[in-house]
Amino acid sequence: MNIMRVEAKQARVDTENTAALVLLFCEGEGLPKEDGVILDRALGGALRELLQSKEFDGKVGELVVFHTHGKIPAKRLILVGLGKKHELNLDQIRQAMGHAAKRVRHAKCSAFTVVLPSVAPHETSLIDMGQTVTEGAILGSYQFTTYRSDGPIGKEVKRMTILAPQKDQLRQLSEGIRRGVATAEATVFVRDLCNHPSNVMTPTRIANEAKTVAKEAGVNLKILEQKEMEKLGMGALLGVAKGSHEPPKFIILQYHGAKKKDDRPVVLVGKTITFDTGGISLKPAENMEQMKADMTGGAEVLAAMRAAARLKLPLHLISILPAAENMPGGRAMRPGDVVKTLSGKTVEVQNTDAEGRLILSDGLAYATRFKPAALIDIATLTGACVVALGQFAIGMFGTDARLKEAIRKAGLRAGERVWEMPLWEEYFEQLRSDVADMRNIGGRGGGMITAALFLSKFVGDAPWVHLDIASTDWSERERAYIPKGPTGIGTRLLIQFLIDRSL
Ligand code: BES
Ligand code: MN
Ligand code: ZN
Repeated sequence: MNIMRVEAKQARVDTENTAALVLLFCEGEGLPKEDGVILDRALGGALRELLQSKEFDGKVGELVVFHTHGKIPAKRLILVGLGKKHELNLDQIRQAMGHAAKRVRHAKCSAFTVVLPSVAPHETSLIDMGQTVTEGAILGSYQFTTYRSDGPIGKEVKRMTILAPQKDQLRQLSEGIRRGVATAEATVFVRDLCNHPSNVMTPTRIANEAKTVAKEAGVNLKILEQKEMEKLGMGALLGVAKGSHEPPKFIILQYHGAKKKDDRPVVLVGKTITFDTGGISLKPAENMEQMKADMTGGAEVLAAMRAAARLKLPLHLISILPAAENMPGGRAMRPGDVVKTLSGKTVEVQNTDAEGRLILSDGLAYATRFKPAALIDIATLTGACVVALGQFAIGMFGTDARLKEAIRKAGLRAGERVWEMPLWEEYFEQLRSDVADMRNIGGRGGGMITAALFLSKFVGDAPWVHLDIASTDWSERERAYIPKGPTGIGTRLLIQFLIDRSL
Protein backbone atom coordinates (compact mmCIF):
# COMPACT_ATOMS: atom_id res chain seq x y z
CA MET A 1 0.00 0.00 0.00
CA ASN A 2 1.23 3.49 -0.79
CA ILE A 3 1.09 5.83 2.17
CA MET A 4 -0.83 9.09 1.66
CA ARG A 5 1.12 12.35 1.80
CA VAL A 6 0.09 14.57 4.68
CA GLU A 7 0.69 18.30 5.04
CA ALA A 8 -0.40 21.19 7.22
CA LYS A 9 -1.66 24.45 5.79
CA GLN A 10 -3.18 27.68 7.02
CA ALA A 11 -6.33 28.72 5.15
CA ARG A 12 -10.00 29.56 5.63
CA VAL A 13 -12.48 26.67 5.48
CA ASP A 14 -14.75 28.47 3.05
CA THR A 15 -12.01 29.06 0.48
CA GLU A 16 -10.44 25.56 0.56
CA ASN A 17 -10.76 23.85 -2.79
CA THR A 18 -10.89 20.07 -2.20
CA ALA A 19 -12.88 16.97 -3.14
CA ALA A 20 -13.86 16.50 0.51
CA LEU A 21 -13.66 18.70 3.58
CA VAL A 22 -13.80 16.79 6.88
CA LEU A 23 -15.16 18.50 9.98
CA LEU A 24 -15.02 16.83 13.40
CA PHE A 25 -17.89 17.42 15.86
CA CYS A 26 -18.38 16.86 19.57
CA GLU A 27 -21.73 15.45 20.68
CA GLY A 28 -24.29 18.01 21.84
CA GLU A 29 -21.99 21.02 21.47
CA GLY A 30 -23.69 22.63 18.50
CA LEU A 31 -21.62 23.92 15.61
CA PRO A 32 -17.85 23.99 16.11
CA LYS A 33 -16.73 27.55 16.81
CA GLU A 34 -15.89 29.79 13.85
CA ASP A 35 -15.35 27.13 11.17
CA GLY A 36 -18.73 25.49 11.76
CA VAL A 37 -20.51 28.85 11.79
CA ILE A 38 -18.71 30.05 8.67
CA LEU A 39 -19.57 26.86 6.79
CA ASP A 40 -23.16 26.90 7.99
CA ARG A 41 -23.63 30.41 6.68
CA ALA A 42 -22.06 29.53 3.33
CA LEU A 43 -24.39 26.54 3.07
CA GLY A 44 -27.49 28.54 3.86
CA GLY A 45 -28.03 27.14 7.36
CA ALA A 46 -27.87 23.48 6.35
CA LEU A 47 -25.58 22.47 9.22
CA ARG A 48 -27.69 24.05 11.91
CA GLU A 49 -30.75 22.42 10.42
CA LEU A 50 -29.08 19.02 10.44
CA LEU A 51 -28.07 19.34 14.10
CA GLN A 52 -31.56 20.47 15.06
CA SER A 53 -33.09 17.48 13.29
CA LYS A 54 -31.00 15.23 15.62
CA GLU A 55 -30.22 13.08 12.59
CA PHE A 56 -26.58 13.72 13.39
CA ASP A 57 -25.45 14.75 16.85
CA GLY A 58 -21.78 13.92 16.92
CA LYS A 59 -21.68 10.50 18.61
CA VAL A 60 -18.42 8.57 18.07
CA GLY A 61 -18.45 6.98 14.64
CA GLU A 62 -21.41 8.99 13.32
CA LEU A 63 -20.80 10.34 9.84
CA VAL A 64 -22.76 12.43 7.33
CA VAL A 65 -21.82 13.50 3.79
CA PHE A 66 -23.08 16.76 2.23
CA HIS A 67 -22.66 17.72 -1.39
CA THR A 68 -22.10 21.45 -1.51
CA HIS A 69 -23.31 22.21 -5.08
CA GLY A 70 -20.79 24.99 -5.58
CA LYS A 71 -21.80 26.97 -2.49
CA ILE A 72 -18.22 26.57 -1.25
CA PRO A 73 -15.14 25.45 -3.23
CA ALA A 74 -15.06 22.09 -1.37
CA LYS A 75 -17.12 19.53 -3.32
CA ARG A 76 -18.25 17.62 -0.26
CA LEU A 77 -18.46 18.21 3.43
CA ILE A 78 -18.02 15.17 5.68
CA LEU A 79 -19.15 15.57 9.28
CA VAL A 80 -17.74 13.05 11.75
CA GLY A 81 -18.67 12.58 15.41
CA LEU A 82 -16.12 12.67 18.25
CA GLY A 83 -18.48 11.83 21.13
CA LYS A 84 -18.91 13.87 24.31
CA LYS A 85 -16.48 16.74 24.81
CA HIS A 86 -15.64 15.88 28.44
CA GLU A 87 -14.90 12.28 27.46
CA LEU A 88 -12.75 13.19 24.46
CA ASN A 89 -9.43 11.39 24.18
CA LEU A 90 -6.86 10.95 21.43
CA ASP A 91 -8.22 7.58 20.40
CA GLN A 92 -11.63 9.04 19.57
CA ILE A 93 -9.93 11.47 17.20
CA ARG A 94 -7.98 8.58 15.69
CA GLN A 95 -11.24 6.62 15.25
CA ALA A 96 -13.11 9.56 13.74
CA MET A 97 -10.29 10.02 11.23
CA GLY A 98 -10.36 6.30 10.42
CA HIS A 99 -14.08 6.56 9.57
CA ALA A 100 -13.48 9.73 7.55
CA ALA A 101 -10.61 8.29 5.52
CA LYS A 102 -12.64 5.18 4.65
CA ARG A 103 -15.55 7.34 3.50
CA VAL A 104 -13.25 9.49 1.35
CA ARG A 105 -11.78 6.37 -0.17
CA HIS A 106 -15.24 4.97 -0.98
CA ALA A 107 -16.26 8.31 -2.53
CA LYS A 108 -13.23 7.82 -4.82
CA CYS A 109 -11.60 11.11 -3.85
CA SER A 110 -7.83 11.03 -4.23
CA ALA A 111 -7.26 13.94 -1.84
CA PHE A 112 -9.08 15.57 1.07
CA THR A 113 -8.75 18.24 3.72
CA VAL A 114 -9.51 17.97 7.42
CA VAL A 115 -10.13 20.93 9.66
CA LEU A 116 -8.06 20.80 12.83
CA PRO A 117 -10.62 20.17 15.62
CA SER A 118 -11.24 23.23 17.76
CA VAL A 119 -11.40 21.08 20.90
CA ALA A 120 -8.55 18.97 22.24
CA PRO A 121 -8.39 16.39 25.04
CA HIS A 122 -6.69 17.39 28.29
CA GLU A 123 -2.94 17.99 28.16
CA THR A 124 -2.52 17.44 24.45
CA SER A 125 -0.27 19.54 22.29
CA LEU A 126 -0.60 20.43 18.63
CA ILE A 127 2.10 17.83 18.02
CA ASP A 128 -0.19 15.17 19.54
CA MET A 129 -3.12 16.39 17.46
CA GLY A 130 -1.15 16.35 14.21
CA GLN A 131 0.19 12.88 15.00
CA THR A 132 -3.20 11.44 15.96
CA VAL A 133 -5.13 12.84 13.00
CA THR A 134 -2.44 11.50 10.67
CA GLU A 135 -2.41 8.05 12.28
CA GLY A 136 -6.18 7.67 12.11
CA ALA A 137 -6.34 8.61 8.45
CA ILE A 138 -3.50 6.38 7.27
CA LEU A 139 -4.45 3.38 9.41
CA GLY A 140 -8.15 3.66 8.57
CA SER A 141 -7.54 3.47 4.85
CA TYR A 142 -5.41 0.30 5.07
CA GLN A 143 -6.18 -2.60 2.73
CA PHE A 144 -4.16 -5.69 1.83
CA THR A 145 -4.90 -6.69 -1.76
CA THR A 146 -1.61 -8.19 -2.97
CA TYR A 147 -3.18 -11.53 -3.81
CA ARG A 148 -6.60 -10.32 -5.01
CA SER A 149 -7.37 -9.98 -8.71
CA ASP A 150 -10.22 -7.53 -8.01
CA GLY A 151 -7.79 -5.08 -6.38
CA PRO A 152 -8.53 -2.45 -3.73
CA ILE A 153 -11.99 -1.10 -2.84
CA GLY A 154 -12.57 2.56 -3.71
CA LYS A 155 -9.73 4.83 -4.76
CA GLU A 156 -6.40 5.13 -3.04
CA VAL A 157 -6.26 8.44 -1.16
CA LYS A 158 -3.01 10.13 -2.12
CA ARG A 159 -3.03 13.30 -0.07
CA MET A 160 -4.47 14.74 3.13
CA THR A 161 -4.22 18.37 4.18
CA ILE A 162 -4.72 19.46 7.79
CA LEU A 163 -6.14 22.96 7.92
CA ALA A 164 -5.06 25.18 10.80
CA PRO A 165 -6.62 28.53 11.64
CA GLN A 166 -3.31 30.16 12.61
CA LYS A 167 0.03 30.29 10.89
CA ASP A 168 2.02 29.86 14.11
CA GLN A 169 0.42 26.42 14.59
CA LEU A 170 1.99 24.97 11.47
CA ARG A 171 5.41 24.11 12.87
CA GLN A 172 4.11 21.97 15.73
CA LEU A 173 1.46 20.45 13.53
CA SER A 174 4.08 19.47 10.96
CA GLU A 175 6.23 17.82 13.62
CA GLY A 176 3.14 15.84 14.68
CA ILE A 177 2.52 14.84 11.08
CA ARG A 178 6.12 13.67 10.75
CA ARG A 179 5.69 11.43 13.80
CA GLY A 180 2.25 10.24 12.75
CA VAL A 181 3.46 9.27 9.30
CA ALA A 182 6.35 7.35 10.88
CA THR A 183 4.19 5.40 13.36
CA ALA A 184 1.38 4.70 10.89
CA GLU A 185 3.74 3.68 8.13
CA ALA A 186 5.47 1.31 10.55
CA THR A 187 2.11 -0.24 11.49
CA VAL A 188 1.18 -0.66 7.82
CA PHE A 189 4.53 -2.37 7.25
CA VAL A 190 3.78 -4.79 10.11
CA ARG A 191 0.25 -5.51 8.86
CA ASP A 192 1.63 -6.28 5.40
CA LEU A 193 4.29 -8.64 6.76
CA CYS A 194 1.67 -10.44 8.86
CA ASN A 195 -0.88 -10.61 6.04
CA HIS A 196 1.48 -12.34 3.62
CA PRO A 197 0.94 -16.10 3.88
CA SER A 198 3.61 -18.27 5.45
CA ASN A 199 4.60 -19.89 2.16
CA VAL A 200 5.87 -16.42 1.25
CA MET A 201 6.83 -14.90 4.61
CA THR A 202 9.46 -17.47 5.64
CA PRO A 203 12.40 -16.78 7.98
CA THR A 204 14.51 -16.24 4.84
CA ARG A 205 12.04 -13.65 3.52
CA ILE A 206 12.02 -11.92 6.92
CA ALA A 207 15.81 -11.76 6.75
CA ASN A 208 15.50 -10.18 3.29
CA GLU A 209 13.02 -7.63 4.64
CA ALA A 210 15.56 -6.83 7.37
CA LYS A 211 18.22 -6.34 4.68
CA THR A 212 16.00 -3.83 2.89
CA VAL A 213 15.32 -1.96 6.12
CA ALA A 214 19.03 -1.89 6.98
CA LYS A 215 19.95 -0.55 3.55
CA GLU A 216 17.22 2.10 3.39
CA ALA A 217 17.45 3.26 6.97
CA GLY A 218 21.24 3.03 7.14
CA VAL A 219 21.40 0.71 10.13
CA ASN A 220 23.78 -2.12 10.90
CA LEU A 221 22.63 -5.67 10.19
CA LYS A 222 23.95 -9.06 11.23
CA ILE A 223 22.25 -12.33 10.34
CA LEU A 224 23.34 -15.52 12.08
CA GLU A 225 22.83 -18.68 10.02
CA GLN A 226 22.18 -22.14 11.44
CA LYS A 227 25.92 -23.05 11.55
CA GLU A 228 26.73 -20.00 13.67
CA MET A 229 23.78 -20.65 15.96
CA GLU A 230 25.11 -24.17 16.50
CA LYS A 231 28.53 -22.82 17.33
CA LEU A 232 27.05 -20.34 19.83
CA GLY A 233 24.82 -23.01 21.38
CA MET A 234 21.33 -21.70 20.65
CA GLY A 235 19.81 -25.10 21.34
CA ALA A 236 16.30 -23.81 22.04
CA LEU A 237 15.86 -21.89 18.78
CA LEU A 238 17.48 -24.72 16.82
CA GLY A 239 15.22 -27.25 18.50
CA VAL A 240 12.10 -25.37 17.36
CA ALA A 241 13.44 -24.99 13.79
CA LYS A 242 14.31 -28.70 13.44
CA GLY A 243 10.85 -29.81 12.29
CA SER A 244 10.85 -27.44 9.31
CA HIS A 245 12.63 -27.38 5.96
CA GLU A 246 12.88 -23.60 6.27
CA PRO A 247 16.28 -22.64 7.74
CA PRO A 248 16.11 -20.44 10.87
CA LYS A 249 17.62 -16.95 10.92
CA PHE A 250 18.82 -14.92 13.88
CA ILE A 251 18.58 -11.27 12.88
CA ILE A 252 20.24 -8.35 14.71
CA LEU A 253 19.84 -4.72 13.66
CA GLN A 254 21.71 -1.92 15.34
CA TYR A 255 21.12 1.83 15.09
CA HIS A 256 23.53 4.31 16.68
CA GLY A 257 21.66 7.58 16.96
CA ALA A 258 22.89 8.40 20.46
CA LYS A 259 25.08 11.44 20.98
CA LYS A 260 27.46 9.44 23.20
CA LYS A 261 28.96 6.42 21.46
CA ASP A 262 28.98 4.33 24.64
CA ASP A 263 25.30 4.88 25.50
CA ARG A 264 23.81 1.61 26.71
CA PRO A 265 21.18 0.49 24.21
CA VAL A 266 17.47 -0.12 24.28
CA VAL A 267 17.15 -3.70 23.04
CA LEU A 268 13.93 -4.99 21.48
CA VAL A 269 13.36 -8.71 20.96
CA GLY A 270 10.40 -9.90 18.85
CA LYS A 271 9.01 -13.44 18.55
CA THR A 272 9.35 -14.35 14.88
CA ILE A 273 7.60 -17.69 14.27
CA THR A 274 6.61 -17.49 10.60
CA PHE A 275 4.06 -20.26 11.12
CA ASP A 276 3.07 -22.09 14.28
CA THR A 277 1.53 -25.51 13.66
CA GLY A 278 2.31 -26.44 17.25
CA GLY A 279 4.90 -28.97 16.03
CA ILE A 280 4.42 -32.56 17.23
CA SER A 281 2.02 -31.16 19.85
CA LEU A 282 -0.08 -30.23 16.81
CA LYS A 283 -2.70 -27.51 17.05
CA PRO A 284 -6.35 -28.17 16.06
CA ALA A 285 -7.19 -27.17 12.47
CA GLU A 286 -9.74 -24.52 13.38
CA ASN A 287 -8.22 -21.00 13.07
CA MET A 288 -4.75 -22.42 12.56
CA GLU A 289 -4.32 -20.12 9.53
CA GLN A 290 -4.12 -17.21 11.99
CA MET A 291 -0.75 -18.59 13.09
CA LYS A 292 0.79 -16.96 10.01
CA ALA A 293 0.83 -13.87 12.21
CA ASP A 294 2.93 -15.54 14.92
CA MET A 295 5.78 -13.35 13.68
CA THR A 296 4.01 -10.11 14.68
CA GLY A 297 6.49 -9.37 17.48
CA GLY A 298 9.44 -9.69 15.12
CA ALA A 299 7.76 -7.55 12.47
CA GLU A 300 7.09 -4.90 15.12
CA VAL A 301 10.66 -4.65 16.37
CA LEU A 302 11.82 -4.44 12.75
CA ALA A 303 9.30 -1.68 12.00
CA ALA A 304 10.23 0.20 15.20
CA MET A 305 13.86 0.08 14.13
CA ARG A 306 13.01 1.55 10.73
CA ALA A 307 10.88 4.29 12.28
CA ALA A 308 13.53 5.23 14.86
CA ALA A 309 16.14 5.57 12.13
CA ARG A 310 13.82 7.55 9.85
CA LEU A 311 12.92 9.90 12.69
CA LYS A 312 16.64 10.13 13.53
CA LEU A 313 15.85 9.59 17.22
CA PRO A 314 18.89 10.32 19.38
CA LEU A 315 19.23 6.89 20.96
CA HIS A 316 21.09 3.62 20.69
CA LEU A 317 18.68 0.90 19.57
CA ILE A 318 19.07 -2.80 18.85
CA SER A 319 16.34 -5.04 17.42
CA ILE A 320 16.63 -8.82 17.57
CA LEU A 321 14.47 -11.27 15.60
CA PRO A 322 14.89 -14.98 16.34
CA ALA A 323 13.09 -16.41 13.30
CA ALA A 324 11.93 -19.98 12.68
CA GLU A 325 8.98 -22.03 11.53
CA ASN A 326 7.35 -24.48 13.99
CA MET A 327 6.53 -27.64 11.99
CA PRO A 328 6.05 -31.32 12.84
CA GLY A 329 8.61 -32.74 10.35
CA GLY A 330 10.52 -36.00 10.65
CA ARG A 331 13.37 -34.32 12.49
CA ALA A 332 11.07 -32.33 14.75
CA MET A 333 11.56 -32.04 18.47
CA ARG A 334 9.54 -34.55 20.53
CA PRO A 335 7.73 -33.90 23.79
CA GLY A 336 10.22 -34.84 26.48
CA ASP A 337 13.28 -33.75 24.52
CA VAL A 338 15.79 -31.69 26.47
CA VAL A 339 17.46 -28.68 24.83
CA LYS A 340 20.39 -26.61 26.06
CA THR A 341 19.76 -22.90 25.71
CA LEU A 342 22.32 -20.20 24.87
CA SER A 343 22.30 -19.21 28.55
CA GLY A 344 23.47 -22.70 29.53
CA LYS A 345 20.18 -23.57 31.24
CA THR A 346 18.52 -26.80 30.11
CA VAL A 347 14.83 -27.06 29.25
CA GLU A 348 12.59 -30.11 29.04
CA VAL A 349 10.23 -29.53 26.12
CA GLN A 350 6.98 -31.03 27.38
CA ASN A 351 4.93 -29.30 24.71
CA THR A 352 6.37 -28.33 21.33
CA ASP A 353 3.58 -25.75 20.94
CA ALA A 354 5.15 -23.63 23.68
CA GLU A 355 7.83 -22.68 21.13
CA GLY A 356 7.74 -18.90 21.53
CA ARG A 357 9.38 -18.95 24.94
CA LEU A 358 12.06 -21.30 23.57
CA ILE A 359 13.19 -19.05 20.72
CA LEU A 360 12.86 -16.00 23.00
CA SER A 361 15.04 -17.61 25.68
CA ASP A 362 17.93 -17.60 23.18
CA GLY A 363 16.94 -14.17 21.86
CA LEU A 364 16.90 -12.67 25.36
CA ALA A 365 20.12 -14.36 26.45
CA TYR A 366 21.82 -12.96 23.35
CA ALA A 367 20.36 -9.50 24.10
CA THR A 368 21.96 -9.39 27.57
CA ARG A 369 25.39 -9.34 25.87
CA PHE A 370 24.68 -5.72 24.89
CA LYS A 371 24.16 -4.70 28.55
CA PRO A 372 20.80 -3.08 27.75
CA ALA A 373 19.61 0.05 29.54
CA ALA A 374 16.15 -1.35 28.77
CA LEU A 375 15.22 -4.78 27.41
CA ILE A 376 11.75 -5.26 25.93
CA ASP A 377 10.38 -8.37 24.30
CA ILE A 378 7.12 -8.50 22.40
CA ALA A 379 5.43 -11.76 21.44
CA THR A 380 2.21 -13.50 20.44
CA LEU A 381 3.05 -15.79 23.32
CA THR A 382 -0.01 -17.43 24.90
CA GLY A 383 -3.62 -18.35 24.21
CA ALA A 384 -4.06 -17.71 27.94
CA CYS A 385 -3.46 -14.01 27.24
CA VAL A 386 -6.46 -14.01 24.88
CA VAL A 387 -8.59 -15.69 27.56
CA ALA A 388 -7.51 -13.27 30.29
CA LEU A 389 -7.55 -9.95 28.43
CA GLY A 390 -9.78 -10.34 25.36
CA GLN A 391 -9.01 -7.98 22.50
CA PHE A 392 -8.36 -4.64 24.09
CA ALA A 393 -5.32 -4.97 26.33
CA ILE A 394 -1.73 -6.12 25.90
CA GLY A 395 -0.37 -8.23 28.77
CA MET A 396 2.61 -6.61 30.50
CA PHE A 397 5.17 -8.10 32.90
CA GLY A 398 8.43 -6.63 34.06
CA THR A 399 11.21 -6.24 36.56
CA ASP A 400 11.65 -2.47 36.52
CA ALA A 401 9.01 -0.04 37.81
CA ARG A 402 10.23 2.96 35.80
CA LEU A 403 10.39 1.05 32.56
CA LYS A 404 6.90 -0.39 33.14
CA GLU A 405 5.54 3.10 33.80
CA ALA A 406 7.12 4.45 30.61
CA ILE A 407 5.57 1.60 28.61
CA ARG A 408 2.19 2.11 30.26
CA LYS A 409 2.23 5.81 29.35
CA ALA A 410 3.32 5.17 25.77
CA GLY A 411 0.52 2.61 25.40
CA LEU A 412 -2.06 5.07 26.64
CA ARG A 413 -0.81 7.76 24.25
CA ALA A 414 -0.81 5.34 21.33
CA GLY A 415 -4.24 3.86 22.10
CA GLU A 416 -2.48 0.48 22.47
CA ARG A 417 -2.92 -0.04 26.17
CA VAL A 418 -1.11 -2.53 28.39
CA TRP A 419 -2.32 -4.20 31.57
CA GLU A 420 0.16 -5.42 34.14
CA MET A 421 0.11 -9.01 35.37
CA PRO A 422 2.05 -10.50 38.31
CA LEU A 423 5.52 -11.90 37.84
CA TRP A 424 5.68 -13.69 41.18
CA GLU A 425 8.30 -16.31 41.90
CA GLU A 426 5.68 -18.55 43.55
CA TYR A 427 4.49 -19.58 40.10
CA PHE A 428 7.87 -21.08 39.28
CA GLU A 429 6.95 -24.36 41.01
CA GLN A 430 4.72 -24.98 37.99
CA LEU A 431 7.78 -24.85 35.73
CA ARG A 432 9.91 -27.39 37.60
CA SER A 433 11.11 -30.42 35.65
CA ASP A 434 12.32 -33.79 36.93
CA VAL A 435 15.05 -34.04 34.30
CA ALA A 436 16.13 -30.48 33.37
CA ASP A 437 16.49 -27.00 34.93
CA MET A 438 12.89 -26.24 33.97
CA ARG A 439 10.12 -27.34 31.65
CA ASN A 440 8.54 -25.21 28.96
CA ILE A 441 4.92 -25.41 30.14
CA GLY A 442 3.38 -24.50 33.47
CA GLY A 443 0.33 -26.76 33.48
CA ARG A 444 -3.19 -25.64 34.30
CA GLY A 445 -3.70 -22.09 35.53
CA GLY A 446 -1.89 -18.79 34.96
CA GLY A 447 -0.67 -19.69 31.47
CA MET A 448 0.29 -16.13 30.59
CA ILE A 449 2.13 -15.77 33.88
CA THR A 450 4.17 -18.97 33.74
CA ALA A 451 5.22 -18.12 30.17
CA ALA A 452 6.47 -14.70 31.33
CA LEU A 453 8.20 -16.21 34.35
CA PHE A 454 9.97 -18.67 32.04
CA LEU A 455 11.32 -15.72 30.01
CA SER A 456 12.44 -13.90 33.16
CA LYS A 457 15.05 -16.62 33.74
CA PHE A 458 16.97 -15.46 30.65
CA VAL A 459 17.20 -11.68 31.08
CA GLY A 460 19.95 -11.50 33.70
CA ASP A 461 19.78 -8.23 35.61
CA ALA A 462 18.63 -6.06 32.70
CA PRO A 463 15.63 -3.79 33.35
CA TRP A 464 13.10 -5.87 31.42
CA VAL A 465 9.52 -5.72 30.19
CA HIS A 466 7.66 -8.52 28.42
CA LEU A 467 4.59 -7.73 26.30
CA ASP A 468 2.17 -10.55 25.39
CA ILE A 469 0.30 -9.40 22.26
CA ALA A 470 -1.58 -12.65 21.55
CA SER A 471 -4.72 -10.77 22.66
CA THR A 472 -4.46 -7.86 20.24
CA ASP A 473 -2.51 -9.06 17.22
CA TRP A 474 -5.52 -10.34 15.24
CA SER A 475 -8.92 -8.62 15.04
CA GLU A 476 -12.09 -10.64 14.49
CA ARG A 477 -13.81 -7.64 12.92
CA GLU A 478 -13.07 -4.37 11.16
CA ARG A 479 -12.97 -1.29 13.41
CA ALA A 480 -12.50 2.42 12.72
CA TYR A 481 -8.76 2.23 12.12
CA ILE A 482 -8.12 -1.45 12.82
CA PRO A 483 -8.71 -3.92 9.97
CA LYS A 484 -10.07 -7.45 10.27
CA GLY A 485 -7.08 -9.80 10.58
CA PRO A 486 -3.54 -8.67 11.51
CA THR A 487 -3.65 -5.36 13.41
CA GLY A 488 -0.01 -4.40 13.96
CA ILE A 489 -0.99 -3.34 17.49
CA GLY A 490 2.10 -2.81 19.62
CA THR A 491 4.07 -1.06 16.86
CA ARG A 492 2.96 2.45 17.76
CA LEU A 493 3.39 1.67 21.45
CA LEU A 494 7.05 0.75 20.88
CA ILE A 495 7.74 3.80 18.71
CA GLN A 496 5.97 6.14 21.14
CA PHE A 497 8.12 4.70 23.93
CA LEU A 498 11.25 5.42 21.88
CA ILE A 499 10.08 8.95 21.01
CA ASP A 500 9.26 9.72 24.66
CA ARG A 501 12.62 8.36 25.73
CA SER A 502 14.56 10.55 23.33
CA LEU A 503 12.85 13.82 24.27
N1 BES B 1 1.46 -18.67 19.15
C1 BES B 1 0.80 -19.34 20.21
C2 BES B 1 -0.04 -18.41 21.08
C3 BES B 1 -1.25 -17.78 20.44
C4 BES B 1 -2.48 -18.36 20.58
C5 BES B 1 -1.15 -16.58 19.77
C6 BES B 1 -3.60 -17.76 20.02
C7 BES B 1 -2.26 -15.97 19.20
C8 BES B 1 -3.49 -16.56 19.34
C9 BES B 1 1.84 -20.00 21.12
O1 BES B 1 2.98 -20.44 20.49
C10 BES B 1 1.19 -21.19 21.74
O2 BES B 1 0.87 -22.09 21.01
N2 BES B 1 1.05 -21.20 23.05
C11 BES B 1 0.46 -22.31 23.73
C12 BES B 1 1.26 -22.56 24.98
C13 BES B 1 0.81 -23.78 25.73
C14 BES B 1 1.17 -25.03 24.93
C15 BES B 1 1.49 -23.80 27.06
C16 BES B 1 -0.98 -21.93 24.08
O3 BES B 1 -1.21 -20.80 24.51
O4 BES B 1 -1.85 -22.76 23.88
MN1 MN C 1 2.77 -22.42 19.76
ZN1 ZN D 1 3.47 -19.49 18.75
